[in-house]
Amino acid sequence: MIDKVKNYLSEVEKFVATKEDEIEQFRIKYLSKKGGIITDLFTDFKNVPSEEKKEFGQFLNQLKDSVSDKINFLKLSLSSTDDKISDIDLSLTAENSKLGSRHPISLTRNEITDIFTRLGFTISEGPEMEDDYHVFSALNFPPEHPARDMQDTFFIEKNPDILLRTHTSSVQVRVMENQKPPIRTISPGRVFRNEAISARAHCIFHQIEGLYIDKNVSFADLKQTLMYFAKEMFGEETKIRLRPSYFPFTEPSAEMDISCSLCGGKGCNVCKYTGWLEILGCGMVDPNVLESNGIDSTIYTGFAFGMGIERIAMLKHGIKDLRLFFENDLRFLSQFR
Ligand code: PHE
Repeated sequence: MIDKVKNYLSEVEKFVATKEDEIEQFRIKYLSKKGGIITDLFTDFKNVPSEEKKEFGQFLNQLKDSVSDKINFLKLSLSSTDDKISDIDLSLTAENSKLGSRHPISLTRNEITDIFTRLGFTISEGPEMEDDYHVFSALNFPPEHPARDMQDTFFIEKNPDILLRTHTSSVQVRVMENQKPPIRTISPGRVFRNEAISARAHCIFHQIEGLYIDKNVSFADLKQTLMYFAKEMFGEETKIRLRPSYFPFTEPSAEMDISCSLCGGKGCNVCKYTGWLEILGCGMVDPNVLESNGIDSTIYTGFAFGMGIERIAMLKHGIKDLRLFFENDLRFLSQFR
């Protein structure tokens, strides 16, 4: 008796079906209330000698389970192949993958570099990890000079000092080392300052600095260049204003404001009711800087300027919190297409 059940078990195991009614035949053969194999075996149960009853019962239950498992499995695999055939339209074009958007910092950087390349400026890049010489000494920051504190520095190694550049003026030093005037270049890049992170400051941000060295370059050239930039970037009606300032590498030095693009100079909470927004630092390259980079300051003069890209992007798009640029929240980023 037990052998009979074992034979049925292996038969069930091997059974395959490709059509609905083959499965139905299989179900009737085993499970039908009238004449089904399993029903009959249960009827035979009473004739099994009592010492075999336990083992027989176990095999019989196993057979019953494997029949219903088999039926479920076959039905499932048949229905999924049916779905595949009916639901997939192979003639449809593939679904487009969603396009990302450029980061607002990249967009603003490209907009600024486009304006200056139209004026004939080249684009130069340099390392983010620098030595003291290229970030400070070659730019007329004497050792121990308090001006070094204007840019709180992340040091990587001491003696000789290796640090993260605090401005991209270091790239301009590298340009002066490798190129003779006339030099007309802008240096976009990431800079680092040991500052507490807030809505207005971050320890990582981006700059674009410009340098123009040639014979007879004057403060008027600087002013004209920056005015052109301001009008291209913020609109034709934009006015500029230069306020005296101090940088070790320029003399004279200035900070440039633009008329508030939001209120048009009338005064609002963005410009703190002054009508002006500060956007960059600039000045005539200090003769010391020219000389320490091997450029004869009796023949050549130059101007330089530097701005933060985040600041420009914030003013241009009315962004109130600088931290948004670093969080990569898609709800913020996808607004800049
Ligand atoms: N390097 C200065 C800064 O990072 C900006 C600057 C550049 C000012 C060139 C004047 C001339 O703050």
